[in-house]
Amino acid sequence: MKVTISVIKADIGGYVGHSNMHPKLIEMAQESLDAARADGMIIDYYVAYCGDDLSLIMTHTRGEDNADIHKLAWDIFLRCTEVAKKLKLYGAGQDLLSDAFSGNVKGMGPGCAEMEIEERKSEPIIIFMADKTSPGAWNLPLYRMFADPFNTAGLVIDPSMHDGFKFEVLDVIENKVIVLSCPEEMYDLLVFVGASARYMIKSVYRKTDDEVAARASVQRLNLIAGRYVGKDDPVLIVRAQSGFPAVGEVLEPFAFPHLVEGWMRGSHHGPFMPVSFEQATPTRFDGPPRVIAAGFQLADGRLIGPVDMFKDVSFDYARQKALEVTEYIRRHGPFEPHRLSLEEMEYTTLPAVLEKLKDRFKVAE
Ligand code: 13P
Ligand code: 13P
Ligand code: MG
Ligand code: MG
Repeated sequence: MKVTISVIKADIGGYVGHSNMHPKLIEMAQESLDAARADGMIIDYYVAYCGDDLSLIMTHTRGEDNADIHKLAWDIFLRCTEVAKKLKLYGAGQDLLSDAFSGNVKGMGPGCAEMEIEERKSEPIIIFMADKTSPGAWNLPLYRMFADPFNTAGLVIDPSMHDGFKFEVLDVIENKVIVLSCPEEMYDLLVFVGASARYMIKSVYRKTDDEVAARASVQRLNLIAGRYVGKDDPVLIVRAQSGFPAVGEVLEPFAFPHLVEGWMRGSHHGPFMPVSFEQATPTRFDGPPRVIAAGFQLADGRLIGPVDMFKDVSFDYARQKALEVTEYIRRHGPFEPHRLSLEEMEYTTLPAVLEKLKDRFKVAE
């Protein structure tokens, strides 16, 4: 049976500031998705959040980029925005860039990761959701899951994945994609994905049969809108086991809290901290950046779960390390590399300051 997993997310109002989700927004989303499930529009759903970002996890048989599913999500975000406005939540409707829906949420503000798959005998999937970062944050973990044998033992010892994986990479500036095949093009891949503000892994496919293994949301709000309207806190769907990395191999890269962009005003680097659902409430300097992992078994499209995958004590060390890095990097205050480089600054007073002071710059002797 072919099933589509659609994860569509938006920040439609923060509680308090940009730190958390108000329960009324979750309730509103659940009520709407309950009705859609009763109507047979979707098979199943789960509403999750990471910080101020609400994710609608839906399963259905309508395929990717389906106008009805996208409209369902869009209308829910509009309804939630109404609630957010009544409560005067912070940045109510922040990610909804357009007033009129035109068939697909892409380019309209919400982030979206979808995959249509033939459900296997057992289909474990992990859905990652992040706050205070950008889709480039997935590059390092996706590389490690699907190309690094020091992370994924299966690349070496499992015949069903020994041939490797293909990575579809999006250049968000030129709006072009390239597919690179690993292990043979690993060094080429790293040239690009190491520059994660510009090149973002969009999909991963198993090389032997082109089966989709992972799919990320890669919308960049600032480029979509041409001005800063909120970051693009991303989501990622990964399939596990039987020809894909084991669940533990999928989670393992997050044991290292690598530096990502997007903390405080979208303008700082910080450690990507794996946390439990409960801990997904970034308040220290609006961070540090967080990631949660919701594990499900699919059963004829039903979402059996979630299991809160980062709640496990074995991620305590990564959290501890992230807190040490937080302490260290925060001391840099407004200095790079804590602060992003000038080109990458999102909320920025710098052009205005430069303009104001331009006549005071004299040619250096
Ligand atoms: P089990 O033997 O518990 O099924 O585990 C197999 C596996 O792949 C674990 O990584
Ligand atoms: P969000 O993108 O999560 O709304 O955060 C905005 C911000 O800059 C917080 O400091
Ligand atoms: Mg926000
Ligand atoms: Mg957010």
